[in-house]
Amino acid sequence: MILRPATQDDAPLLAAWDEKPHVKWCTGFDPDLPLPDEAREDWAAQIARDVDWLDILIGEVEGRAIGVVQIIDPHLEESHYWGTCAPNQRAIDIWIGEESDLARGFGTQMMRLAIARCFADLTVANILIDPLMINTAAIRFYRRLGFVDVGERRFGDDACQVMELRRAQWEETET
Ligand SMILES: CC(C)(COP(=O)(O)OP(=O)(O)OC[C@H]1O[C@@H](n2cnc3c(N)ncnc32)[C@H](O)[C@@H]1OP(=O)(O)O)[C@@H](O)C(=O)NCCC(=O)NCCS
Repeated sequence: MILRPATQDDAPLLAAWDEKPHVKWCTGFDPDLPLPDEAREDWAAQIARDVDWLDILIGEVEGRAIGVVQIIDPHLEESHYWGTCAPNQRAIDIWIGEESDLARGFGTQMMRLAIARCFADLTVANILIDPLMINTAAIRFYRRLGFVDVGERRFGDDACQVMELRRAQWEETET
């Protein structure tokens, strides 16, 4: 497994993954309906951006793209999705593209690489994630990686479980 920066060639695949029922469901959309236009990400434009608060990374196994991780700096991110946020944090989003690649250990490997990448910056104190409360499988997945519950929070219409991994906790599990 490697994590590499997304390129323009990945844009169509990322758009196709957005329409997968398991991806729509985890972002609060009806898995059985087409994604509403306003929710459609313009991946080509996102990938073309050159901002220091966003990394779009593709998980690749034996040359095949299998999933994506987005790492943001919630303090600098322009929409202020996380609200007013202290600096020196990161927030991660992750999803596997194809149903047939779920539950094969790829997500765990991608998260480990993404976490190490975040903490390689020594100023980063903790990593945040915000699975939907109903996404109990993802919450279990993050707990196994050392994330702990911070509290329930609403982002728009979505009831989410905010979780965090602190540097000290990660260093403990790494040794
Ligand atoms: C969450 C996710 C990235 C985990 O990656 P993965 O490669 O499937 O996970 P791994 O094989 O490394 O670990 C298996 C664990 O993943 C979790 N998991 C989360 N969503 C899952 C899904 N849709 N299918 C299967 N397992 C899932 C489970 O906890 C599972 O362990 P379990 O045996 O306790 O149920 C991946 O399942 C996924 O993309 N799910 C849909 C999108 C999503 O929910 N993203 C997170 C949004 S916060």
